[in-house]
Amino acid sequence: MKYNFYAGPAILPREVMEEASRAVIDFNGMGFSILEISHRTKEFIAVMDEAVALVKELLFIKEDHEVLFLSGGASSQFYMAPMNLLDETMKAAYTDTGTWASKAIQDGKLYGQVDVIASSKDSNYSYIPKGYDIDPAYRYLHITSNNTIFGTQYKAFPETSVPLVCDMSSDIFSREIDINKFDLIYAGAQKNMGPAGTTLVVVRKSALGKVNRKIPAMLRYENHIDAGSMYNTPPVFPVYVSMLTLRWIKKNGGVSGIQKLNEKKAGVLYQEIDRNPLFNSPTNPEDRSLMNICFLLHNKELEKEFLADCKEAGCYGLEGHRSVGGFRASAYNAMSLEGIAVLTEVMQSFEKKKG
Ligand SMILES: Cc1ncc(COP(=O)(O)O)c(C=O)c1O
Repeated sequence: MKYNFYAGPAILPREVMEEASRAVIDFNGMGFSILEISHRTKEFIAVMDEAVALVKELLFIKEDHEVLFLSGGASSQFYMAPMNLLDETMKAAYTDTGTWASKAIQDGKLYGQVDVIASSKDSNYSYIPKGYDIDPAYRYLHITSNNTIFGTQYKAFPETSVPLVCDMSSDIFSREIDINKFDLIYAGAQKNMGPAGTTLVVVRKSALGKVNRKIPAMLRYENHIDAGSMYNTPPVFPVYVSMLTLRWIKKNGGVSGIQKLNEKKAGVLYQEIDRNPLFNSPTNPEDRSLMNICFLLHNKELEKEFLADCKEAGCYGLEGHRSVGGFRASAYNAMSLEGIAVLTEVMQSFEKKKG
C-alpha cells in the first residue's frame, strides 16, 4: 500500500480515479472518450451543470454568487481578481502570510494601490497575523486561507465590512466556510477538487463591472458568467474529474462530514509531533493547518534516514518545501486516517530506533 502525502497535485479518491479512467475509454456508454467529445454536447454540458450545482450545494452558495471553472491556475487569479475588482483610484488591503500571498500582492500592485496591512514574514510565516486595523474604505481585503508551504491556516476570517477576496486553493471543501461573506474566492483544483488544469472561482455578481479599464475578453469574469464557463473550450477533463470528486464529497457527508475526518487526521499527527521528542513543529499551535502539516527533526542529519523509513512504510511526498525544510504531510480530503496512522507509527518506530 502506498500513501500519497504530496502537496499538489495531490491524492484524489480511488473511486474517482477508477470512474475517470473508464470515462477516458468510453464516457457514459457513448462509445467516445470524455477526451474526444465536444464541450457543446449535451453529455458534457450535463457534466458542467452538475459540477456547478454541486459546488453551490456543498458550499451553500446563495443567488448573488456565480460559480466558474476557469483555466490558468490559481496564479492567474492573482492578476484576474484585481484586474476586475480594483482600479487606479481604489485601494486594496492584502495580508502577507506566505509565498502565494506575496505573489498575489505583487500582481495586485499592477492594478491599483495595495497596502499590506499585516504580515508574518518576520518569523518565516509561522503564524497568522491577528488584531490589525482594517480601514473600511478598502475595496477589498485579500487573504490566503491556507498557506500550503508554511502549514498555517486562518481558523477565523477577519471581521470587517470590507469585502473579502480569498485564495482557498489548499483548503477548499475541507472545512465549512461561509462563502457568502466573500466577494470572490478562487482555488486551483489540484488539491481537494481534481487534477491540475481548472480553477474554481466563486464571485459575487454585484461586485463586478465597477472598474474603469479595458479588460481582455478572456479575463473578464462577466464573459465567463454569461457563457456558463464555456466562453472558450473549458478544461473538460479536469472539470469532469472535479465533478466526480464533488459527488464523492457529497456522498461522504458533505463538507461538514469531511471536516470532522480532517480534524481527526490532523489531530492524530500533531499530537505525535508534539509528543515525540525527536520532532518539533515550526508553526504557531493555534494557526496550524489541517491540510499541510509541517514538522522538523531536531537533528537535521537524520532527515534522509527518516524519509527512507517513511518510504519503506509506503509514505511518499513528505519532503518539506525548501523555504521551511523538514517535512510536510499533506492530509487532503482523500487521505485516509489509516495513512496518517501509518506515518505516526513510522515516527514512533524512529524514536525507538534512535532512543
Ligand atoms: C495557496 C496556493 N495558492 C496558489 C497556488 C498556485 O496555484 P497554481 O499552480 O494552480 O497556479 C498554490 C499552489 O500550490 C497554492 O497552494
